[in-house]
Amino acid sequence: MCGIVGYLGPNQAAPVLLSKLRCLEYRGYDSAGVAVIEAGRLNVIKAVGKLANLETLLQKERPMATVGIGHTRWATHGSPTDENAHPHINANGTLAVVHNGIIENYAELKAELTARGYVFRSDTDTEVAAHLLSYELEKAPTDVLRAIIRVVAQMRGAYALGIVSQHHPDRIYAVNHHYSLTVGLGEKESFLASDSTAVRQFTNKIIRLEQSEIAEITTDGVRLFAFDGNERTRDPISVESNAYKIDKEGFKHFLLKEIHEQPLVLRQTLSKYLISADQPVNFNVESFAPGLSAMYGVSLSDDQVRSIDRIQIVACGTAYHAGLVGKYVIEELCGIPVEVDIASEVRGRKLLVNNRTLTIAVSQSGETADTLAAINEAIESGSFTLGITNRPDSHLATLTPNLIVTECGIEVSVAATKTYLAQLVSFYLLAIYLAEKRGSISDQYARELKRGLSHVPAVIEQVLAREEAYRRESLKLADAHDVVFIGRGFNYPTALEGALKLKELSYIHASGYAAGELKHGPIAVLDSSVPVITVLVPGRVYEKTLSNAQESRARNARMVAIAVDGDESAPSTFDYIFRIPPIDEILSPMVTVVPMQLMSYFVADFLGKDVDQPRNLAKSVTVE
Ligand code: M6R
Repeated sequence: MCGIVGYLGPNQAAPVLLSKLRCLEYRGYDSAGVAVIEAGRLNVIKAVGKLANLETLLQKERPMATVGIGHTRWATHGSPTDENAHPHINANGTLAVVHNGIIENYAELKAELTARGYVFRSDTDTEVAAHLLSYELEKAPTDVLRAIIRVVAQMRGAYALGIVSQHHPDRIYAVNHHYSLTVGLGEKESFLASDSTAVRQFTNKIIRLEQSEIAEITTDGVRLFAFDGNERTRDPISVESNAYKIDKEGFKHFLLKEIHEQPLVLRQTLSKYLISADQPVNFNVESFAPGLSAMYGVSLSDDQVRSIDRIQIVACGTAYHAGLVGKYVIEELCGIPVEVDIASEVRGRKLLVNNRTLTIAVSQSGETADTLAAINEAIESGSFTLGITNRPDSHLATLTPNLIVTECGIEVSVAATKTYLAQLVSFYLLAIYLAEKRGSISDQYARELKRGLSHVPAVIEQVLAREEAYRRESLKLADAHDVVFIGRGFNYPTALEGALKLKELSYIHASGYAAGELKHGPIAVLDSSVPVITVLVPGRVYEKTLSNAQESRARNARMVAIAVDGDESAPSTFDYIFRIPPIDEILSPMVTVVPMQLMSYFVADFLGKDVDQPRNLAKSVTVE
């Protein structure tokens, strides 16, 4: 979603801002812009569409400036146009604002400002902040900080702002209110970004802004203020400075590369928490960065683990599907009832958690507004909390004392693939960990599961080696308008995830159903034009799933299966089969989803879709 960057220092600001915006590109956006102070005057350059459009304008104009802010916008208020692109300026064009999040009372504020004579040029809520700041500055033109304090006192919502003023070319102001912003400190230069990866390109000395905090950034450092104006002091922390590399490494798309990285990321995540099959799962590994509250791992005492009588999982999208697999696995191994909620559905409802509940927030980015809001509710209700994220530097990591970090590296493609697999493996590890502590599974079974888990990356490698056969079968689906995915038990969430991947990548409408649910309504849509993709793995629900597939076949649907090698019943029911190596039913969701990811990729690529950045989507969904 939207991204904020800023720079001030000895170098030309525009190329630095552009390079930082590139780091944020993967979050999703539909326009971009910068505001720099050039020879004492504010110069705003913005363009709808990809960063390449902004780059062309910057190459033409070549602004000579050493201070500036930049933004990638994902439209919320107003369509993606040049006028709505950020930065937004005040009436006389002396100050510029970039903004992430939503100003909830913008309509009210806009009406007040309009009544005072302010003219709005865009449909955005952001422009309110620019005019309001201008209005507050009229009262004391030199005191920008006080004006910002009066502005934030009037604005409601969760947001982050970056501000430059031509009257103060030696500084950038930043505001963080229930969002994420990082300041990077270099040698006589400072950086601002909504995603620390964009800062870590340049420096490993960072300060993360806390909630409801204002930063006054100069080339000498940063001063921090609470919203009441009180100054706060905090030392910068050192983080790994490894440059953020955007490299497809020979793959046509990041998505394909990331699908192929799955065996590696599973091994990395497993090796962090699982030493051997003979030892208990160990979540007590080192804190990942000084100065941040979250530790890798789970710091619950044995008594606390035994006291948990319910688990609540909150997540969105693909992470929600991972949570559903987590439910099946935890209930199976630990006998603890697990609820899984779409995080946005927790809003405006009673979340029934207490001090005997463990609430787990799953979020690749750790920045999903709905998921953060849900975990905050759980914290307020006194629940134990745990986060599963790929971003130890995220907002989520600061909220939960327990954190399982998936070891995936950056996931550039908007569609989640490798992080889904790593979330799944985290749930398996967590379930075994809880089961071992509560004594709900035998040592022998725990060992078998851990051995099975360690073998999964090798099985996925075998699946990936079949890519060409999958590609041929996948292209037969490219003419479909509707596709139905079905699965039961552990693979019901796989059906949901398969459908989500296909629709977000190829824009073909797809729905996932519990296989047994088909005959309760969805079967009405079936005819010879509709492919039904069935996840069929030997185990407790095999026969029933096969019967549900046969019900579809009787309606002339085009029958497709994800089935294991040696399954002799499949050919008589299915028109084509994506074969996978044999795998235990309980572990199978980590394997069955991979042909579906590839299928979605091949169809989308064949149809010429923007595979890595599908239309309308954002990687990090930071608005509710
Ligand atoms: O960063 P998060 O895991 O919290 O993101 C949740 C969803 O927005 C995300 O999984 C989304 O559904 C992806 N586009 C799926 O590919």
